[in-house]
Amino acid sequence: MSVVSRPAGRLAGPEQPALEEIAAYVVAAAVWAPSVHNTQPWWFSADGPELSLHADAGRQLRVADPRGREMLISCGAALFTARLALRSLGYVPQTSVLPDPGEPFLVARVSWQRRAAAAGYEQRLYSQVRRRRTHRGGFDHAPIPLDLVTTLQEGAERDGAMIRIVRGAGNRAVLAAAVQTAEQALELDGIYARELASWATPPGSTRRDGVPQTAYSAWPEFTLPYFPGRGFATGHRRGATGISPSAAPRSAGLACILTTAGDGLTDWVNAGQALQRALLTGATCGVAAALHSQPLERARLREFLRTQLCDGAYPQLVLRLGSAAQTAVGVRRAPASVLFASGGEHLTISDE
Ligand SMILES: Cc1cc2nc3c(=O)[nH]c(=O)nc-3n(C[C@H](O)[C@H](O)[C@H](O)COP(=O)(O)O)c2cc1C
Repeated sequence: MSVVSRPAGRLAGPEQPALEEIAAYVVAAAVWAPSVHNTQPWWFSADGPELSLHADAGRQLRVADPRGREMLISCGAALFTARLALRSLGYVPQTSVLPDPGEPFLVARVSWQRRAAAAGYEQRLYSQVRRRRTHRGGFDHAPIPLDLVTTLQEGAERDGAMIRIVRGAGNRAVLAAAVQTAEQALELDGIYARELASWATPPGSTRRDGVPQTAYSAWPEFTLPYFPGRGFATGHRRGATGISPSAAPRSAGLACILTTAGDGLTDWVNAGQALQRALLTGATCGVAAALHSQPLERARLREFLRTQLCDGAYPQLVLRLGSAAQTAVGVRRAPASVLFASGGEHLTISDE
C-alpha cells in the first residue's frame, strides 16, 4: 500500500481511517523534509489522534551544530510537512511547539480531530513533498517572478520568520564572501571535515541517510558571485559529473536570508517550518533552492551577517533561488524505523 504520494484506500474514502494509518501516512511524508546533511534528526511517537515529533540527539552534528540549531530547523521542516500531510487528508492539525519546557527534545505535538477540505494550494504544496530536491550549484539566468517572491515572504511571516532578499551587487558580494570565508575555514578544520565526510555516503552504500554522490558535483561549480557549496567531494573525486569543470559561471540566483526575530528553540523550529513552506512553494513553480549554512556555523560570521545584512534579526539559513535541471535522487530512512507507539514499540507500516 502506498499512502505517501496521495491518499489511497480507506484514507481516500468517506470511512474514518484507523488512527495508526493516519500516523503512518503523516510520518511517511514528514521524513521527506530537508535536514542538515540529510541527518534526519527526528523520531515520532503516536498516541491515538496525536503524534509527537522528537529531535534525535544521536543525529545532531556535534561539531558543526553544537547548540542543535540546525537540528531543530530540520525538525521544524518535518513538522511543517506533517501538518501538510494531515491537511492533505482533510484534517485540521492542532500544533503545540515545544509543549514541555522540561523536555527540549520534544519538538511538537500535533493532534487532529476537526475536518475541513484541503485548499488547492495545500494540495499543490503536498504534491512536491517527495519531488523537491536541494539544488547545489548555479542557476539559469531567468528571473524569479515577483509575485512568487511576495508569496514566499508572506508565507515565512505566517510561520514567525522572515525571508530577506539580498539585493544589489555589493550586498550579494558580501554574502558570497561570507560563504567563501566560512567554507575555507571549515575545510581547514580537521574535526569538522571528518564529521562532514561521515555524512557524504560513498557509491554503492545502502545507507538511507547522508548526502549521496548524485546530490553534489564532483568539482566546484562556479556562480557569479561565487557561493561555494559544502565540501562533500573534498578528498575524493566522487560526485555528479554533469557540469564540465571548465563551464562558464552560472547565475547565483536570487540570494535570500531566512531570519527570525529571536534565537531560541522556538525560533529555530519556526525557521524550519518557514523553510519547508518556502521550498515547497518554490517547487510548485519550478523554482529550486540551494542552501548554505556554512557562515552560520561560524559565530563571528553569523554575527557579521546579522548586523550587516539582517537589520539585527538572526540569520537561520542562506538560500539561493532559481531554476535549474535537477538529477539528484533523494534518500530517506524507512518511515517504520522512526515511528513508535507511545509505549515504545514500532508501529507496523506496510508501505515501505
Ligand atoms: C538546517 C539545514 C541546513 C542545510 N545546510 C546545507 C548546506 O550548507 N549546504 C547544502 O548543500 N545543503 C544544505 N542543506 C540541505 C540538506 O543537505 C538536504 O536537505 C538533505 O541533504 C536532503 O536532501 P533533499 O533536500 O534534496 O531532500 C541544509 C538543510 C537544512 C534543513
